[in-house]
Amino acid sequence: MSKNIMITGASSGIGRAVSMEFAARGYGLGLAARRLDALESLRDEILQRHPDTRIAIRPLDVTEYAKVPVTLREIIDELEGLDIVFANAGIGLGGKIGKGEFEAAKRTIETNVLGAMATVEAATEYFRERGRGHVVATSSVAAFRGLPGNGAYSASKAALSVWMEALRAELYRHPIDVTVLHPGYIDTPINDMLTNRPFLISLERGARIIADRIEGKARNPAVPRWPWAWLARVLAIAPTRFISRMG
Ligand SMILES: NC(=O)c1ccc[n+]([C@@H]2O[C@H](COP(=O)([O-])OP(=O)(O)OC[C@H]3O[C@@H](n4cnc5c(N)ncnc54)[C@H](OP(=O)(O)O)[C@@H]3O)[C@@H](O)[C@H]2O)c1
Repeated sequence: MSKNIMITGASSGIGRAVSMEFAARGYGLGLAARRLDALESLRDEILQRHPDTRIAIRPLDVTEYAKVPVTLREIIDELEGLDIVFANAGIGLGGKIGKGEFEAAKRTIETNVLGAMATVEAATEYFRERGRGHVVATSSVAAFRGLPGNGAYSASKAALSVWMEALRAELYRHPIDVTVLHPGYIDTPINDMLTNRPFLISLERGARIIADRIEGKARNPAVPRWPWAWLARVLAIAPTRFISRMG
């Protein structure tokens, strides 16, 4: 029997492309995001290419924390089970600290940390009941160093990575896998306004790598591995005078 994956942030960018990729690999899909119209058109596109795909869509704002487990259970009922939950929804708002960007920074923390935690919390509860499963979250290479002009985003991804590390330790003797993705620059609307996107890869390539890493149950993959696995180490120890030029 084919596997089912639920993906948050499925209406755009990585979530959308990974949904297409998993449909091509024969998975059933539970797709969630705030924009229902975008999910509907994604569903239509997937069904045109892969008519047998089972798809459940739900509008969901992950910062409406109490709604997250309700939506997850609705998708479980509709698909008759989930094997993988991918907490991918995220935003990159904020700016330099002390420049009036607090509300944007707060929204980034609420979405990327608390929204992802609400998703993973609900998924883990279900997988503990079921006795198996796989929890996946999208962090970022920005988690490895507080980047100037991106403090809230870096902090949000660092918090998410560390929280997921604790989850992995809690699940050590359980048959529940934990994957934390650390992408570099993948071409999506979250970064297409930036003038400098070093080592940018296409969305299609990023989605293929991410699907491979999820299927391979990788623990903390950089996406793509080269150069980001190496750069993550460099970022963590680079002198502040070098990091300060990145803002
Ligand atoms: N692209 C990169 O280079 C890169 C690198 C590292 C990490 N990431 C991470 O990858 C993830 C996906 O980003 P992306 O690059 O694909 O950007 P994107 O194209 O802007 O997609 C973001 C997705 O998150 C959803 N979302 C945002 N806020 C939400 C909320 N409150 N509730 C539910 N869904 C919400 C959006 O859907 P709605 O607006 O319809 O809700 C959208 O589907 C994010 O966590 C991002 O931080 C991206």
